[in-house]
Amino acid sequence: MRIEFRGKVWQWRGPAPFYFVTVPAEDSRELKAVSAAVTYGWGMRCRSRSRSGRCDVLPAPRAVPCGDMPSVWENKAEAYARHAADSAYNALYERPAMLELIGPVAGREVLDAGCGPGLYAEELVRRGAKVTGIDGSPTMIELAHARLGERARFRVHDLDTPLAWAADGSFDLAVMALVIHHVDDRVALLREVHRVLRPGGHLVLSTHHPMADWLRLGGSYFDVAPVEEVWREDWVVRFWRLPLDATSAEIAAAGFLVERIVEPRPSEELARRFPEVHAKLAERPSFILFRLLRPAT
Ligand SMILES: C[S@@+](CC[C@H](N)C(=O)[O-])C[C@H]1O[C@@H](n2cnc3c(N)ncnc32)[C@H](O)[C@@H]1O
Repeated sequence: MRIEFRGKVWQWRGPAPFYFVTVPAEDSRELKAVSAAVTYGWGMRCRSRSRSGRCDVLPAPRAVPCGDMPSVWENKAEAYARHAADSAYNALYERPAMLELIGPVAGREVLDAGCGPGLYAEELVRRGAKVTGIDGSPTMIELAHARLGERARFRVHDLDTPLAWAADGSFDLAVMALVIHHVDDRVALLREVHRVLRPGGHLVLSTHHPMADWLRLGGSYFDVAPVEEVWREDWVVRFWRLPLDATSAEIAAAGFLVERIVEPRPSEELARRFPEVHAKLAERPSFILFRLLRPAT
């Protein structure tokens, strides 16, 4: 069911999910009706603010597994590729921090798990790596292939399934950027990545900072739960929220050792181009990065 009205879904937070719906002042009567329908019909609450715009009331976030996540990204593959190429959070914050943590890659066999449209693969190849990119979204893989041609290998692969096509110890390094929180069985995935890394190899991954999720979503910091959130107006994204010690336990269960944890600081360039984002990130990190070692023995 969708209720059309002039307004804008603003954000939701709190233990019980609700949206802030912003509408022009003259629509406030309409909002009351919508609010009542939403509150009593769908278990959501609306709040008004005076802002103009246009959009729909969206279904309430549900606690569902993330199993169909690639299809969500599949629908947004091109939009994500355009966005992540030059966005504050991806291009100027997360990617530079990850690339620094990854370090030199020349001559290395690198697995880019959840490679998306190939933005990491492109940079890693430029730095001399031999990259295999995998992703559950066929369109992401097409975009990655279009970006790199024969300079890297790509294949569609659902990270909820074993990396059966990859031999034990076949990669020096695995990169998993902003992907693991979309996977339901993260320990199984980490174990598979551990298996395909050579002893002494590394996995470098980034994920939501648990404190950022808690500040934005509310509820208990210690919740381990799948959540659904609307990003950029209409990207309905599902991911797992979990506290730092749960992530640490999953990493240990897969046999990795934590070499470094990074909470990225925003750069000067970010300050120049996106001062509001910079101010926010200077106080609270959005992402957390891990450099993990597959021990030699
Ligand atoms: C936020 S994007 C990150 C893409 C890329 N790593 C980057 O940083 O530009 C998340 C990616 O994870 C992929 N993904 C999510 N769940 C997946 C799964 N179960 N199996 C394979 N890919 C998955 C999506 O298709 C999407 O390309």
